[in-house]
Amino acid sequence: MLQGKKIILGITGSIAAYKAAYLTRALIKKGAEVQVVMTPAGKEFITPVTLSALTGKPVISEFFSANDGTWHSHVDLGTWADLLLIAPATASTIGKMANGIADNMLVTTYLSAKAPVFVAPAMDLDMYAHPTTQQNLDKLRSYGNYIIEPTIGELASHLEGKGRMEEPDRIVERIEAFFSFGQSLQGRKIVVTAGPTYEKIDPVRFIGNYSSGKMGFALAKVCAERGADVVLISGPVALATPHASIRRIDVESADEMYNAAVTEYSDADAAICCAAVSDYAPMEYSETKLKRSDASLSIALKPNKDIAAALGKMKSPNQCLAGFALETDHEADNAVAKMSRKNFDFIVLNSLQDAGAGFRCDTNKVTIWRRNGESVKYPVKSKEEVASDIVDTLVSCFK
Ligand code: C5P
Repeated sequence: MLQGKKIILGITGSIAAYKAAYLTRALIKKGAEVQVVMTPAGKEFITPVTLSALTGKPVISEFFSANDGTWHSHVDLGTWADLLLIAPATASTIGKMANGIADNMLVTTYLSAKAPVFVAPAMDLDMYAHPTTQQNLDKLRSYGNYIIEPTIGELASHLEGKGRMEEPDRIVERIEAFFSFGQSLQGRKIVVTAGPTYEKIDPVRFIGNYSSGKMGFALAKVCAERGADVVLISGPVALATPHASIRRIDVESADEMYNAAVTEYSDADAAICCAAVSDYAPMEYSETKLKRSDASLSIALKPNKDIAAALGKMKSPNQCLAGFALETDHEADNAVAKMSRKNFDFIVLNSLQDAGAGFRCDTNKVTIWRRNGESVKYPVKSKEEVASDIVDTLVSCFK
C-alpha cells in the first residue's frame, strides 16, 4: 500500500519515541522509503543509530552534518517527501509548528514541506488538555494538517488520561487509507450545500428547521481531504469550517442558497445537495416586528425554488449530482422517485424512523440508491464515516 512512498518521520522528545522504531519498521514493511528527522530532545529518548539502521539512511537532526559540515537542505527534504509524519509530537513541537518557530531541522522542514502533514501528539494528560496545546492543534488543523488523536490510557507518568500516542499500527493504517483514497478527487470542484435555511417573517422571526449542518460539513471535509476544491454553501449553523482548503459561502435564505448554488455548479464537477432547504417562505416580509394580538394569525407562504432540481436541469453529461431524502413513509419509493425527478445520480436516504439517524445527532444510518436501481444499506455510523461512504459513491460516478 505504501510502495515507493517517500515519508519523512519526525521524532520529537517524548517517551513515546521508543515506539518510533517499530513505526519506522512498519512503514518500511509496507514499502515506504523513510527519512527520519529528529529534534535534539528526540535523540535523548532513542538513539539515531537504531533509526538509521532501520531506514538505511543517516538520521538528520542538525542543519549541518557534524562530521563534514555538509548543509542539509530543509527545502529539498520538504519537497522530496510525499508525506510528513510527526510521531510522537510533543506540545513544544506542536507549539513551534503552529507559530512558525523554526529553531530546529524538523520544524524548518515542516515549514518547507508541500506534502500532507500528519501529527500524532504524545504528552501527559494535563499538557494535552491545556488550552494552549488545544489552540495550537486547532491552528494545525486549520492549516490542513491531520491530527492523529492520542488515546486514553495509562501514561508514562502513571497517570491515566488522554495523551498516549496512537499505536504505530493504527498510525500506519491512517497513512495507508490516506494514500488509497487521498487524491481521488484531486482537481475536481465539488459544491456541497449544508445546514438549514431561514426564511424571514419579520426582523426577529423566521421559519427554519432542526438541521445542524453536521452531515454536509462532514461531506465537505471528506471531499477536501481527498483533494477536491470544495465550495461549501452553508445556511446558518454553529460549525467551524472543517478544512483549510474549503471555500465557504454563508447564506441565510433558500433564495440566497439557490443563487450561490447555481453560480458555483456551472463550472463544478459535482454537487451534493445536503441542505435542509425550507420548501416555503412567507409571501410578505414585515419590516416591523409583528405585534401580538388576541386574534389568530396566518402567514401566507409561497413555495421556494428547488435548488437540487434546478441543478439537475442544468447538469451536463460530465457532471454528477447527489441529494438526500429524509422520509417518514414509503421511504424507498419516495427516494427513488425523487432521484429521477431531480435528475440525481444517486440519492442518500436517511430515515427519521431509525435510531441514530437524522437531525442534530453525530451518527447517521443511510441507504444509497443509484440510478441503475442498485442500493446499499449501511449500518449506523458516525457522520464522518457516512460521508466517506457517500464520497466513495461519488468517486465511482466519475469513472
Ligand atoms: O424535495 P425534498 O426536499 O424532499 O428533497 C430533498 C433533496 O433536495 C435534498 O437533497 C435537498 O438538499 C434538496 N432540496 C433543494 N432545494 C429545495 C428543497 C430540497 O436543493 N428547495
